[in-house]
Amino acid sequence: MRYVPLDTPKPISKIGLGTWQFGSREWGYGPDYEQRAAQIVRRALDLGVTLFDTAEIYGFGRSERILGAALGDDRAKVVVASKIFPVLPLAPVVQQRAVASAARLGVAGIDLYQVHQPNPVVADTTTMRGMRALQDVGLVGEVGVSNYGLRRWRFAEAALGRRVLSNQVRYSMIDRGPEKDLIPYAQQAGRIVIAYSPLGQGFLSGRYDARNPPAGAVRRANPYFLPENLERGTELIATLREVADAHDATPSQIALAYLLRHPNVVAIPGASGVEQMERNAAAAEIDLADDEYAALVTAAHAFRPLTGLAAVPKLIRARTGR
Ligand SMILES: NC(=O)c1ccc[n+]([C@@H]2O[C@H](COP(=O)([O-])OP(=O)(O)OC[C@H]3O[C@@H](n4cnc5c(N)ncnc54)[C@H](OP(=O)(O)O)[C@@H]3O)[C@@H](O)[C@H]2O)c1
Repeated sequence: MRYVPLDTPKPISKIGLGTWQFGSREWGYGPDYEQRAAQIVRRALDLGVTLFDTAEIYGFGRSERILGAALGDDRAKVVVASKIFPVLPLAPVVQQRAVASAARLGVAGIDLYQVHQPNPVVADTTTMRGMRALQDVGLVGEVGVSNYGLRRWRFAEAALGRRVLSNQVRYSMIDRGPEKDLIPYAQQAGRIVIAYSPLGQGFLSGRYDARNPPAGAVRRANPYFLPENLERGTELIATLREVADAHDATPSQIALAYLLRHPNVVAIPGASGVEQMERNAAAAEIDLADDEYAALVTAAHAFRPLTGLAAVPKLIRARTGR
């Protein structure tokens, strides 16, 4: 495993574990998954993973409970990251919600506490006042944000009066927005971009095609899995396979290695089984050659999916079968 080259109280692994899947029916993994989830966590620990990401909203608290129980006594050794879902993130609310998350996780302190998304009405001034108080009493280690643009990230830092260590954003070969300004900022200021959906929710695994789309509500609502977009992704997947073959690796591992080239980026793929977790952890060791990276960049740029409003009628048709 490799770790972020930053001064943090505990090392942060370049591959973390995302746990939205834990206790969340919308992924469609069924009742047996809970036990597998615990095995995934234990295996991740064996492999040197130190970043475990959850949120109060995942499975309405179940993800935090499953993660905390699976980590057991190892909770104190790793970076446990959770998120407040900011419906009304006033300072006292932030404090109450952190206490509740810590209780579900079974931890004395949340190593990284993140604001799940920017609230359009409530300013970060009050939210960060709550975060600062939590840091001052030791219930929260580092503060993070998620789905923030650069301006608001920096504003949050000014409001906190301390570093907001990380911004967790959608970042993968098919969502490269963070490369514009968030990653350069993280690099220059000593912050971290946490890449969520780093495999495009499995799109980049090459496992799915127009005749074989994934099941589950999450991905039925994701336009990338429209038959048309799976078709449009064929070339990109072919390039991933080609680079993967040269490394005796899989397309998913190469898709992760692409992100991890940036020193201040960590990825938190979710996993449906232990073997995926093992492969994802191993991806941290893959070094892409410059020409391989260039080929991946070209293939990623050439992928033009149907998204936004244009995709909505097709998504509705895919859902209703009409
Ligand atoms: N902050 C936010 O707003 C936000 C939003 C979304 C997610 N997140 C966080 O980010 C984490 C990851 O994002 P995500 O779950 O949306 O997407 P993801 O990590 O890109 O995709 C996860 C899915 O990809 C497949 N997969 C994983 N490893 C694989 C491998 N080695 N080979 C082949 N397939 C593999 C699995 O699905 P199948 O095996 O079923 O194909 C798995 O459930 C979440 O768990 C959550 O913690 C945060």
